[in-house]
Parts: sequence; C-alpha cells; structure tokens
Amino acid sequence: MSKQVTPYETGESKKNQVRQMFNNIALRYDFLNRLLSMGIDKGWRKKAIALLAKKEDLKLLDIATGTGDLAIEIVQKYPDAQVTGLDLAPQMLEIGRQKAQKKNLGSSITFVEGDAENLPFEDNTFDAITVAFGVRNFERPLEGLKEMKRVLKPGGQLVILEFSKSRSKIFEGIFNVYFKYILPKIGRLISKDARAYQYLYDSVQAFPSGTAFIDLLNESGYQSNRWIPLTLGVCSIYYGEK
Ligand SMILES: C[S@@+](CC[C@H](N)C(=O)[O-])C[C@H]1O[C@@H](n2cnc3c(N)ncnc32)[C@H](O)[C@@H]1O
Repeated sequence: MSKQVTPYETGESKKNQVRQMFNNIALRYDFLNRLLSMGIDKGWRKKAIALLAKKEDLKLLDIATGTGDLAIEIVQKYPDAQVTGLDLAPQMLEIGRQKAQKKNLGSSITFVEGDAENLPFEDNTFDAITVAFGVRNFERPLEGLKEMKRVLKPGGQLVILEFSKSRSKIFEGIFNVYFKYILPKIGRLISKDARAYQYLYDSVQAFPSGTAFIDLLNESGYQSNRWIPLTLGVCSIYYGEK
C-alpha cells in the first residue's frame, strides 16, 4: 500500500484526523461538492447505483455515507429499499439525517455512527454495499474491504466510487492544474479548513488507482472484479461480488 496521507499531518491516527476534518467541513460539504465538481458528481453516483442488481426489497449498506447523497439517491430510485448509512463523522451524519427527513425518507434510511474497518453488523447481512469517495480515507483500506465482504450476503455486490488517475496524460495534466492549484484554494476559502481540499488532492495521488485497486479487491477475496473509468478516468467505479 502507498504511503499514508493524513489531513493535518499531526501524530494522531488517520482515523481521528479524518473524523475531525469531515466534522469541520460538514456544513459546507454539499455546497462545495456541487461547486467543485460542477455537478458531475451527481452523474457518477447515478452510474454507480445503476449497477445494483436487486431492485426489490434491497437491503443496502452505504459506507462513508457522509451527508447521505448516495443513500438518498438509492431510496428515491428504489422506494422499498432499506438503507443503512454508516460514517465516522457525526456532524456529516446529522446533515444526512436532516436531508432525509426533509425529503420524507427518514423511515427508509438509518444513519449509524461507525467505522468501516470494524462494522457493527452480523456476517452475511446485506445484499449490496456502496462506498462513494470513502475508501481512500480509510486508515486501513484492505481491512475495510475485508469487513465489507464479511457483512455482505454470498453473491452480494460491492460498488465503490473513488477518484482515480486519468489514463490520458494530456487530460490528467489539464485536470491537475484545477485539482492541485485551483480547487484547494476555493475549498480553503469556503470551508475555512486550510488542509481539507489539499488533502483531497494529496490523498488521490497516493491512493491505488485502476488495476492497482483491483489488486486490493482480489486480495480481499472478491470475485467478478471490474474497473469502470468515468470522465476519462478521473473517477472510477470499482465493482466486486462476494
Ligand atoms: C468524501 S466523504 C464522502 C461522503 C459521501 N459518500 C459522498 O459521496 O458525498 C468521505 C466520508 O468518509 C467517511 N469515512 C472516512 N473513513 C471512514 C471509516 N473508516 N469508516 C466510516 N466512514 C469513514 C468520512 O467521515 C466522510 O464522511
């Protein structure tokens, strides 16, 4: 695994720093997401959801649910789905809860504070697990992937959405001018957190991308593993089955 990149580069565990960072930026997280991705993130989430095979009575765990965008999108598409949204950061979850209530989806989504690397669920519980922009933030991604496999039912689906490195060097060069220099400045101004959006760039550079991530899925014991690059590969869906 590549070197550990942490938000604040203090001696504290990555987990504590990540929790602190997302609690700090929770109030402005959704606004910044839409602004900095120019709305493209919505389409990425829809593509990830389209891979879910079970359409009825779906029991789904959305890990690193944050402010609940993916969980909300899922229950809007599949109204009889029961979704559990789990996250480390209570302030992100609180915003998710409020959003779900406003949309009258409070009874379809249960928000739970917890750690992806130590899930509070029995073996073989869920039909599917989704993780959008979360795995890169785990302290031990491999442990997280193995935990997810434990709580998936046999044949259950894992759908991960994560930033990745474009295979087009020209596009990557252009994109990185924005991602490395412009985005952290806007993020700092609006979120008031000096590090959060610099950490975003740094953590993507250090995290396994494309086939390197598929290696982690293989190592964790998933099957039918697939890599689906989106938007010239700056984002990817990684898919596996238990
Ligand atoms: C970039 S946000 C993504 C939120 C949401 N999935 C979305 O698409 O907008 C990453 C989230 O991962 C959560 N997270 C990071 N490490 C985690 C862990 N070990 N267990 C659970 N959640 C974690 C953070 O608290 C944060 O809310």
